[in-house]
Amino acid sequence: MKLKFALIALVGLVASGTTVTAFVANPAPAPKSIKEVMKIAHKDGLMKKIVAGSASDDEKKQLLDLYIDMLEGEPKKGDKTEWKLAASATVVSAGKVVLGKEGAIDELKKTTDCMACHSKFK
Ligand code: HEC
Repeated sequence: MKLKFALIALVGLVASGTTVTAFVANPAPAPKSIKEVMKIAHKDGLMKKIVAGSASDDEKKQLLDLYIDMLEGEPKKGDKTEWKLAASATVVSAGKVVLGKEGAIDELKKTTDCMACHSKFK
């Protein structure tokens, strides 16, 4: 019986391989607050590393994941619809970076303009 369960668990694990990879890249499954996203993506330099071209594929995916969390968060200041637009733009550009689309890094730089966003929402 025990073996059967272990086998089922193993098959499940293999089948959800993508989920497992995402989990490894991101140990905390709970969505991160905007503050946490700012710390990891901006203060600790993840975004800069991507712009500099020295980030791994997993790091690019991590940025996309963080920006999705940011989009789902609510800033204390500013218009909610405008926030969704500004945050969505970061998600799209980070997605393009993951896919290796042309001009993606330039677009990422534009959508993550610190002061432009902070003046409205921080
Ligand atoms: C799409 C909007 C947006 C962009 C782009 C953005 N920020 Fe932020 N940032 C915010 C918001 C909103 C807050 C306030 C979060 C809070 O206090 O809940 C914030 C807060 C911060 C904080 C303070 C976090 C803390 O611990 O209180 C830092 C540091 C920061 N941002 C750095 C940056 C840097 C550096 C950049 C540019 C590379 C940047 N941010 C780009 C929206 C943005």
